[in-house]
Amino acid sequence: MRRIALCIALAGVTLAASAQPAGRAPFNEGWTFEKDGVSRDLDLPHDWGVEGLFKQEYPGETGKLPWWGMASYRKTLDVNEEELATQDIDLEIDGAMSHATVAVNGIDLGGWPYGYASFAIRLNPALKAGRNEIVIKLDNPEESSRWYPGGGIYRNVWLTKTNKTSVSHWGTYITTNVRNIRNVAKIASQPKMMWADADIALRVTLKHAGEKTVGMIRTQIIRQVPHRRDDGQEVIIDRVIAETRNIEYIEDGKTIIQTFEVEGVELWTQEEPAMYLARTTVETPDEVLDQYETPFGFRKAEWKADGFYLNDEKTFLKGVCLHHDAGALGAVWNDDAWIRRFQMLKEMGCNAIRTSHNPPAPEFLDLCDRMGFLVMDELTDTWTVPKKAHGYAELFDEWAEKDLVSMIHRDRNHPSVILWSIGNECGEQGDSTKWWIPQMLTDICHREDPTRPTSAGNDNPWAASQGYAKTIDAYGFNYKPHQYAAFVKSHPGQPVFGSETASCISTRGYYRFPVEEEKGKGWSMDAPFQVSSYDLYAPGWASKPDYEWQFEDQVPECAGEFVWTGYDYLGEPTPFNMDPSVLTNFHTEEERDAFKRMVAGWGQEIADVPLPSRSSYFGIIDLAGFPKDRFWLYQARWRPELPMVHVLPHWTWPGREGKVTPIHVYTSGDEAELFINGVSQGRKAKEGYRIRWDDVVYQPGTVKVVAYKDGSVWAESEMKTAGKAAKAALEVDYAGEDLSFVTTRILDSDGNFVPTADNKLTFKVSGSGTVVATDAGDPTSHTPFYSRTIDAFNGLCSVIVRRTGPGPITVTVSGSGLKSAKITLNQ
Ligand code: GAL
Repeated sequence: MRRIALCIALAGVTLAASAQPAGRAPFNEGWTFEKDGVSRDLDLPHDWGVEGLFKQEYPGETGKLPWWGMASYRKTLDVNEEELATQDIDLEIDGAMSHATVAVNGIDLGGWPYGYASFAIRLNPALKAGRNEIVIKLDNPEESSRWYPGGGIYRNVWLTKTNKTSVSHWGTYITTNVRNIRNVAKIASQPKMMWADADIALRVTLKHAGEKTVGMIRTQIIRQVPHRRDDGQEVIIDRVIAETRNIEYIEDGKTIIQTFEVEGVELWTQEEPAMYLARTTVETPDEVLDQYETPFGFRKAEWKADGFYLNDEKTFLKGVCLHHDAGALGAVWNDDAWIRRFQMLKEMGCNAIRTSHNPPAPEFLDLCDRMGFLVMDELTDTWTVPKKAHGYAELFDEWAEKDLVSMIHRDRNHPSVILWSIGNECGEQGDSTKWWIPQMLTDICHREDPTRPTSAGNDNPWAASQGYAKTIDAYGFNYKPHQYAAFVKSHPGQPVFGSETASCISTRGYYRFPVEEEKGKGWSMDAPFQVSSYDLYAPGWASKPDYEWQFEDQVPECAGEFVWTGYDYLGEPTPFNMDPSVLTNFHTEEERDAFKRMVAGWGQEIADVPLPSRSSYFGIIDLAGFPKDRFWLYQARWRPELPMVHVLPHWTWPGREGKVTPIHVYTSGDEAELFINGVSQGRKAKEGYRIRWDDVVYQPGTVKVVAYKDGSVWAESEMKTAGKAAKAALEVDYAGEDLSFVTTRILDSDGNFVPTADNKLTFKVSGSGTVVATDAGDPTSHTPFYSRTIDAFNGLCSVIVRRTGPGPITVTVSGSGLKSAKITLNQ
């Protein structure tokens, strides 16, 4: 819900999500930032950590970037007498890391400590007519996170001016009761559409100052549709489908309920996520006091004993967990970066996202609404048992309820949200004296939103068999697929799913020989600190994807899974995590010894190695946005109707001639035949989820795979051994209104991709753009993200370019020993 026009360009169509002109406006520009005695001007959103240098002595666990510390943001605000007398002026902050306090003209107005929460601060008590100074101070403690949290006001900030009589902050709550679902027959090449009739209940909470008064609250239910005008221009028009008016005594805090009955509305589906708008005005006969827009969708979301149902259709959750950073942009929210990410997840067949382990940016959910993702919206990684000395446990007692209520009030109108997650792997899981904590959180969720169940990510192997399990509606297992069947038996009627699965680790384009499946064989504690990409490796508590799937396939009641993780993220570079050689991580010998005892079994030697890694290996897609091999393993399972075949490893192995170099194939088909230099290596059926030729002996040349389904050719793939790196090729991976992502591929003189190339590349941008960041997806690289010179990693590199005005942007890449390349982005 919002009071400002938010335009999201998707698939070529720009849909205005709302149209209220005044009231809420971005307040991101023109701040003065000060940290460590240095000040400068900048625009928000901003993350000071990602601007810094990677340092070996910083903890790898949180990305080896300097995200902690104290800082302030200052900005002036001019207000006139009349505004001051008639308006409530609020500062809305979508996310500030962390412990934000807001002061105006030196008067402290409060703040919000949890860095992932959105909150509003009323400025009026400290405002005066004329110029005012707003100061937001942050105090981001070290030892407060298990991953890279970022530092700064890293999400959008808004200034909201409302009449003293108006809808209150996050003051609407809409529910729809969908009936009579009609499944419109799919027209070839058109997305499937569904229609239904529905009852709508809209709760509007008002704020009001002064005497009790009478006003009219009028809400229109609107379908916004793109329309081509006679002059050829695309515009958005409002189609009003229902309207309700209430004449009411207006009192501060009063909630009124408006109901509507509508027929033939388009349902919110994954393929065609139709969005509607409830436009509420608060009026007197003389004036419109407020206008408030609530985007929503009609959908029936049901959790049943045998899985999740969307609009009466059983819908398996093909989900991924995501942390909040966007790679080289750090924690900074950016629409384009996330549209690009979501498009790639869709391409893989992903239909659900878990916002691990915290509430996301509000725009994240807008995108999920518009792109048809289902969301598990998560509160926290910790209740009262600390995971880090200054983590959320310090805040829990005072803030948990406020944070949870704020998450639910902000997010409960999003059709994409299907689950409230009250926590992840919280230490209280196994403690029979602490069951009241999840019960209290579940009760708050039910109180604030009776339409969605609660869940949590549970890793404690005994938790599922205790009373604890009953305090959560839909039980989420982290890495325990072998418990699904027993849970279904012992908890009849209670939904169950994999809240965190696999945690397979790999580095894009890196392969290690011999290929052995045991734990720990995919990497070594020596350089290059990479993990083999055969998708067979995982840390001790985790598994390859296949292990999870085996149980999903045996237990039809399992509602789906959320893979750890969709994208690589900053921090937590398991198995090269912790960095014990660095005293900033291990302050005492005892801590180091305790760590050695803890890792015994999978990485004792880690304790003596200076580890360079600063980002994760868990992603299906790397930090720069390049898919790793298992992207296609998931695609083969999640999009069985898509003809595809993927082959690994690459086939450029000078020096491996005559050595065993296994070839694995991922396909949505059921059989495949492998040819090396035209000679068949046999046709094989899928065993489990892959097809493997483990005895192949390497010889340079051509690898070709033909996949079959039901006996007919289904998909083909071919790759050639590459020669020396000779040239760079540029392609636009994503072009947005603000950011564009341009990929460099390194090729040999015949145009073959060189999968091991690591040439140093330099980027130049001319015209209406500038370089924001570069990233090649190497989890061990310490090249700052702002650098324009960077080593390619396994043949690829990404440069992120910001548009600074209208007109063309030209990106040039040059590299040592390479023919350079140029590409132009037109507006
Ligand atoms: C889980 C945890 C995640 C991440 C993951 C790595 O136990 O919930 O946050 O740490 O392990 O495998």
